[in-house]
Amino acid sequence: MSTRDSWVSNVGFVLASIGSAAGLGNIWRFPWLTAGNGGSAFLFVYSLIVVGVGVPGLLAEFVLGRRGRQTPIGTFRSLIASRWGSALGTFNVITALVILSFYSVVGGWILRYMLASPTGAYFGQPQQFFGTISYGLQAVVFHLLFLGVVAAIVFFGVSRGIERASKVMLPAVVLFLSGLAVWTATQPNTAAGYAFYLSFDADYLVANFSSVLGPAAGQALFTLSLGTGAMLTYASYLDEDVSLPRNTLVIAFSNMFIGVLAGLVVIPLLFSQGIDPGHGGPGALFVSLAPAFASLPGGTVVATAFFATVLMAAVTSGINLLETLVATLIDCFDVPRRRATLLVSLLLAVTGSGLALVGPIFEFVSGTLADLLLTVGLFAFVAIVGWLLRAAALAEFRAGTDRFAVLAEPWLLTVSWVLPVVVLFMLTNTLVSLAG
Ligand code: PHE
Repeated sequence: MSTRDSWVSNVGFVLASIGSAAGLGNIWRFPWLTAGNGGSAFLFVYSLIVVGVGVPGLLAEFVLGRRGRQTPIGTFRSLIASRWGSALGTFNVITALVILSFYSVVGGWILRYMLASPTGAYFGQPQQFFGTISYGLQAVVFHLLFLGVVAAIVFFGVSRGIERASKVMLPAVVLFLSGLAVWTATQPNTAAGYAFYLSFDADYLVANFSSVLGPAAGQALFTLSLGTGAMLTYASYLDEDVSLPRNTLVIAFSNMFIGVLAGLVVIPLLFSQGIDPGHGGPGALFVSLAPAFASLPGGTVVATAFFATVLMAAVTSGINLLETLVATLIDCFDVPRRRATLLVSLLLAVTGSGLALVGPIFEFVSGTLADLLLTVGLFAFVAIVGWLLRAAALAEFRAGTDRFAVLAEPWLLTVSWVLPVVVLFMLTNTLVSLAG
């Protein structure tokens, strides 16, 4: 087998992982969920879950990846010497394929919006515009373009492709979002949005706690890219001498910061137009932001910058998913990287086009099916770390760190007891919504 690719530096790994985490989930889904679930109340519950569940869960994936030193299939095959290892790894690979298939379709929409923004083509009739581009031939074409960009990066490998791209794109995302947040603050009628987002409404929280919990937990796990083995794959390229707990904290908090920043752009803009955030659906954000861009000075420039930011964020997430699939072919079947990238991209071109053509299937796959696969995958990860590989997990946690070593036992306790309960709760939630 050829030698495995690896990160040039730990900073490269951290930036790529933040890039994976901060994607459509943060910019497209998070502000929307926040606006629809009580603003600051949602933010509060979400933050608690990120800290209590997301962080230990992410660390569990990192531990598995660096221990196994391969993509999910190879990792589980070697760590749990049983047929179940390959089966679980295969399940993860299918999950990554499913997620990237719909992710790439949304990435295509974003690209389409970015290109339409300089002329404000969708400002006048936002609903109609979304209707034309969301499902059908246009959606297929732009999905393929988005996929092409992602594939072009993965084609060059971990250090020359993914690491380099992340080092440019992630800082650009933060810079652009900060600029957009400042611009938003100078716009009229945004005060109500800030108040809603940032002031804490305890009564709302008490009254709606149970209904906020499900979306908050789902978002916390999706945004940290948990459950597909994608983060596991990134960690498989990491050396023993770096601290996994420290990296995990940096990644999770940077991601949270980016989400909050996105909220500071989107929520005040929605409120400035008096938009009721109660109505959801995949196109809701695009349709609702259009009047804000249309009515505010410099709207076309700002809209272009906004969608360029979302696009970059989506690309740095897409490359993590594609790498998981490509590296599986490299690790397990010794396929050269370039050929592997081509093969997987061809497959995704087909699966994504299917979703781009049939709206109801897209909605089922991007909603219920994705939630289901991610939670099952994550449940398996935490069960393995918490119950099957305890000693190895502790050793891996402690490798490369002094300062955090005391947290190893409490972490494992959380992974063994708290995480399975939370993940099972989420699974039940998904199944109930499926039945209802
Ligand atoms: N974290 C990404 C986002 O929020 C989505 C993602 C999920 C990426 C799973 C990789 C793996 O957009």
